[in-house]
Amino acid sequence: MSVSPHGRKTTRLMKVYIETMGCQMNRLDSELVTASLRAAGHEMVDDHGQAEVVLYNTCSVRRHAEEKVYSRLGGDSRRKAHHRPRLILGVLGCMAQREGQELARRFGGLDIVCGPGQLARLPELIAAAAAGEKTVALDPDALEARREKKKTDHRGTEAQRAEEGDWLRSGTPLAVPTNVGIPDVTDTDDFDSLDMAREGSPDGGARSQAYVRVMKGCDNFCTYCIVPLVRGPEQSRRPERIVQEVRRLVDAGVTEITLLGQTVNHYRWSDGSKTVRFSDLLADVADVPHLRRLRFITSHPLDFTDDILQIMAERANICEHIHLPPQSGSDAILGRMNRKYTRGQYDELIDRARAIVPGVVLAGDFIVGFPGETEADHEASAGLMRRSGFKNSFVFKYSPRPGTAAARNMPDDVPEQVKRRRNNELLAVQEQVGLAHHRSYIGTTAEVLVEGPSVRAAKQGFEPSAERTQLVGRTRGDHIVHFFGPQSLSGQYVRIRITEATSLALRGEEEKEEETVSRRGEER
Ligand code: 5AD
Ligand code: SF4
Repeated sequence: MSVSPHGRKTTRLMKVYIETMGCQMNRLDSELVTASLRAAGHEMVDDHGQAEVVLYNTCSVRRHAEEKVYSRLGGDSRRKAHHRPRLILGVLGCMAQREGQELARRFGGLDIVCGPGQLARLPELIAAAAAGEKTVALDPDALEARREKKKTDHRGTEAQRAEEGDWLRSGTPLAVPTNVGIPDVTDTDDFDSLDMAREGSPDGGARSQAYVRVMKGCDNFCTYCIVPLVRGPEQSRRPERIVQEVRRLVDAGVTEITLLGQTVNHYRWSDGSKTVRFSDLLADVADVPHLRRLRFITSHPLDFTDDILQIMAERANICEHIHLPPQSGSDAILGRMNRKYTRGQYDELIDRARAIVPGVVLAGDFIVGFPGETEADHEASAGLMRRSGFKNSFVFKYSPRPGTAAARNMPDDVPEQVKRRRNNELLAVQEQVGLAHHRSYIGTTAEVLVEGPSVRAAKQGFEPSAERTQLVGRTRGDHIVHFFGPQSLSGQYVRIRITEATSLALRGEEEKEEETVSRRGEER
């Protein structure tokens, strides 16, 4: 460990293991962190046992995900105490932000607690940890939200309150009074420094798909959701920077870009003279030369306006796929969830989407067992699922999250076994809906971007050869397609004649004859 002429800490290069839980935003964050650690000279390893630095990029959306991290940290802390005193342990992302100092107190072996807005500091935090400094680096925006929450919600002793008040004010180190040499890179006007630092292809190799963040945070405050508390207020990125990042990725060989935001369709940039809406951003990104596919996730049914649907219909490279979580089909539950739309408005949006964007493919998320959910409410969700014809749906059992309005004000009154039954019932409905949806593609030809050898085939013991292995790819509508072909097709676009369907995927054969790729790629 030494101090560079700029006063920054430098450290010996280490083997770093990172495990990612949760959503696509976390996957992107981990990708960017990996790039920045590699740029700092560290080596990324897949083997947890070999690593000198173990990082967990965590999710707080449901309790289950958090429990997994506690269990991992318990094991790592014991290993560190007994055999590996120099092991550096870090928690990144939403759990770090949600629990902050409490997490560091609970796991004495933890060196780094780093909120999602502070990830650009990670190389410095690792250097500090190697010198024996423990750091809790939290995003000030979400701290503000935590402060508000503490005012109304904290039941600790005066002494605890005083102590927590201190770290809430400083947001800096745990065991060391000052944090000399660790620059505070948090700048609310420039939250995308890590995104902009990424060079070309996402992992330095030849990849054809990449995520690009267009906004962070969320202002919706759905009553069950922790995201606004941990990811802070909604902030859109400057459009020119998004386009610049996409250009760079495309120049490096990426052909499919997915724009990411918690409520991506709420994207809005204004600098006084001009306002850029999400549909304008889509048009600007779609214009990047040689970008073959443009996707976006996740959308909120509120403000999914016709200008977005129209630009999807107009631009050949915008994929006709919308992840549009309804969460519930019942007005009573939607109201208590603070979703700000009714069942009727959701149904009407689906009809508009189908009318304006030919062949649009829809996917949903549902929560079962929200406080006060009756059998009739549950039936309404099943009805919405059937009516919407989703390609796939994620179904979650309601999990009360500390600090959210639902956890504070609504008793978690649906018994666990009822949640489980409703979960299974909705999954069974989705299975029927998904099967009908996928079957409707049999006999059609789809343009498929080949992602690589199928993991499922490997599990089934299928022996691949260079000429023929089981490959998996995605259509423009985000359908999973399995087919046999040479491994060299990975990253390529091929035309697949669909022959079979399950509730989750399609199977087909490569069409050999040269054909012009159709406008939509999936004639129906
Ligand atoms: N309990 C269960 N599911 C939740 N989700 C968000 N918060 C909760 C919660 N407290 C689900 C929503 C969201 C998805 C990412 O996670 O369905 O769309
Ligand atoms: Fe959570 Fe609702 Fe924001 Fe989605 S829109 S991140 S569910 S608060």
